[in-house]
Amino acid sequence: MCRPDFASGFFMKKDEFYMKAAVKNAIKAKGKTGINPLVGCVIVKNGRIIAEGHHEGPGFPHAEIMAINSAEESLKSSTMYITLEPCNTWGRTPPCVDTIEQIPFKRIVIGMVDPNPKVSGRSIKKLERKYKVKTGVLEDEVKNLNPYFENYITTKKTYIILKAAFTLDGYLNVQNSKSKYFTGIESRAFVHKERFKTDAILVGANTVNADDPILDCRLAEKKYKPQVIILDFSNKLDYSKSLISDLKRKKIIFVSEKSRNKIKNRDDIKYIFIKRKEDAWIKLKNEFCQENIVSVFIEGGADVFAGALESGTVDEIQIFHAPVFSGKGKRIDLLKMTNKKFSLKELLVFKNDVFSRYICSQD
Ligand SMILES: NC(=O)c1ccc[n+]([C@@H]2O[C@H](COP(=O)([O-])OP(=O)(O)OC[C@H]3O[C@@H](n4cnc5c(N)ncnc54)[C@H](OP(=O)(O)O)[C@@H]3O)[C@@H](O)[C@H]2O)c1
Repeated sequence: MCRPDFASGFFMKKDEFYMKAAVKNAIKAKGKTGINPLVGCVIVKNGRIIAEGHHEGPGFPHAEIMAINSAEESLKSSTMYITLEPCNTWGRTPPCVDTIEQIPFKRIVIGMVDPNPKVSGRSIKKLERKYKVKTGVLEDEVKNLNPYFENYITTKKTYIILKAAFTLDGYLNVQNSKSKYFTGIESRAFVHKERFKTDAILVGANTVNADDPILDCRLAEKKYKPQVIILDFSNKLDYSKSLISDLKRKKIIFVSEKSRNKIKNRDDIKYIFIKRKEDAWIKLKNEFCQENIVSVFIEGGADVFAGALESGTVDEIQIFHAPVFSGKGKRIDLLKMTNKKFSLKELLVFKNDVFSRYICSQD
């Protein structure tokens, strides 16, 4: 049976329809779950959603348990739709699969197998002994909820993406232009979707001062403000800029040890003091671990791009080429390049701009 999906205007199969509702629940916790994945759940009986749940982050109940606990009627013969395979291990909360097994569900529908090697298919096998289980419903969409979770859970490393836009003559900015943008709105909307997938955006102080960027996802379907990391070795950052005046937004600022006495403590800013600029790239990795940052989007400018590439930390490069010429301006210092190998993963056209995505293929 098909149901209308009002957002897309299409009719969807029943399982896809309810999985989409589970995905919507998962997104409610965007930005709150830390290293835990976004997970959503709905429980359906006689064609009605009778319970919903999502995971709010470490220590909070998992989505399935939140849904089970919120049900105000019998769950007998209902179907559970869950975006990610339930857990089977004790963490801060008991294994979800054991709680689920106590309920006389008719069916369990799962978006994707948990990539965590400790779980990976084991809960599904357990559930299959008792219920009809279907796996892989809206799998691509569900994977997109936590695109870097698999990398983190299997390597324990933060996934680092560098995104840059170039003019046709290889510059990062256009001189004497009224607008700070030289790519089209379609490209920028795509960037906002990419930002939505990440936990943090990293920029240099000069970019904040020159462009006064907001660095949010206002052109994406869902609004969200990733936390911000700013490299500001010489303490040149202009604190009147929008990003810094937003007191609700969490920021980490890397600044020289010499500037320690000039810094005013603020609740929204965590300062990391470094002796040399290069130390930032070593300390960043510690910081990502401490702050539970699964993925970082590096958005410039030239100095920061060069440092990131030279440090060998970049896993993915996203490049836009726009059909404009600058003649002069900021370029990336080619003397500092990486010797890592990258291979082309995706090539897209956004009206006048070309987008290419490269994945690090070799150390
Ligand atoms: N086309 C694009 O994709 C794009 C994206 C972003 C920005 N931009 C453009 O790029 C320009 C800005 O680039 P930029 O090269 O001048 O500056 P930037 O890379 O934005 O920022 C440089 C600042 O970061 C600090 N810094 C760099 N590495 C550091 C480290 N490892 N630790 C601590 N601090 C560090 C530098 O400190 P020191 O001063 O001590 O060296 C400097 O203050 C702007 O014109 C902007 O419009 C273009």
